[in-house]
Amino acid sequence: MKYGFIGLGNMASAIIGGMVKGGIPAEDILGFNRTKAKTDALVEKYGIVECASADEVAERADVLILAVKPQMLPDVMDAAARCGSKPVLTIAAGKALSWYMERFPAGTPVVRIMPNIAARVGESLSAICGNKFADESVIAEAKKIFACVGKVYIIEEKFFPAFSSICGASGAFIYLYIDALAEAGVRAGFPRAMAEEMASGAVLGAAKLAQDSGEHPIALMNKVCSPGGTTVEGVIKLKELGFETAIQQATQAVIDKDKLL
Ligand SMILES: NC(=O)c1ccc[n+]([C@@H]2O[C@H](COP(=O)([O-])OP(=O)(O)OC[C@H]3O[C@@H](n4cnc5c(N)ncnc54)[C@H](OP(=O)(O)O)[C@@H]3O)[C@@H](O)[C@H]2O)c1
Repeated sequence: MKYGFIGLGNMASAIIGGMVKGGIPAEDILGFNRTKAKTDALVEKYGIVECASADEVAERADVLILAVKPQMLPDVMDAAARCGSKPVLTIAAGKALSWYMERFPAGTPVVRIMPNIAARVGESLSAICGNKFADESVIAEAKKIFACVGKVYIIEEKFFPAFSSICGASGAFIYLYIDALAEAGVRAGFPRAMAEEMASGAVLGAAKLAQDSGEHPIALMNKVCSPGGTTVEGVIKLKELGFETAIQQATQAVIDKDKLL
C-alpha cells in the first residue's frame, strides 16, 4: 500500500513520523510539498519518497492524504480528482465531506479526519468519518494511519465541530492555563524554565490520573481539597471568577465559529 501526502507541513510531518515509528515502511510513503525544503527534510529524516508534483502523488499512491490548509485545497483538488476513485483522506479543518463529493468523481471514497497537534508526540485524539463510498476497508486504513499518532474515534460528521473544539482547540486553552500557572510560579520566585516545567508537569500528572484512576474529576478534586485547607480556597476563587463558565463558553465559541466556516 502506498500512502501519498499532498502538503508536508506540521501535521503531515507528525503523522509521517508516527507512521514510520508504527512500522509503515518509509518507502511506502510518498509526498509533495509546495516548498521543497520541507520535503527534503522528511526525505532526509525518514527516507520517504519525494514526488515532483501533486499529480505524481495522486498517480502513484493507493491512498491520498490531503494535508494542506483548507484555503489551499482548491489548488490541489484537480490533482486529487484525477486519482480516479482511490480513497482520499483529508485532515483539513472545517470542510465537510459534501464539499469534496461535489468536486471528486462519483464513487470516490472520502474520509474526513480531525487529528490534533499532540500527534507530534503520539498523543493525538483523531475523529474519523467517511462518506457513503468509504467502506470498512477504507475506514480501517484511515484508522491504521491515525492510530500511529494516538487514539482514534469513529464519529458522525455532525459531531466534528464539537470534537474539534473539545479535542483540538482545547489544546490552546490548556497552553494558556499552563502559561498562567507558570507565571504564578515566576511570581513566587521560581526560574521561568522550572516554573514552566512544573506547570506542564502538573497538567500532565492530573490528566494521567483522571484517565488511569477511572474516578470522576470532581472526586479527584475533592481529594486534593482538605477540609479547611489551602486548595479549597483556590477552587472557590476560580468558581467566583467564572472558571467553569469561561471554559464552557470558550468551547461553544469555537463550535459556533466552526459551524460558520
Ligand atoms: N495544526 C493543527 O493543529 C491541525 C489540527 C487538525 C487539523 N489540521 C489541518 O491540517 C492541515 C495542515 O495543517 P498544518 O498545521 O500542517 O499546516 P502547514 O504546516 O501550513 O502545512 C501545510 C503544507 O501544505 C503545503 N502546501 C500548500 N499549498 C500546497 C500545494 N498547492 N501543493 C503542495 N503543498 C502545498 C504548504 O507548503 P509551504 O511550505 O509552501 O507553505 C505547507 O507545508 C490543515 O488543513 C489544517 O486544517 C491542523
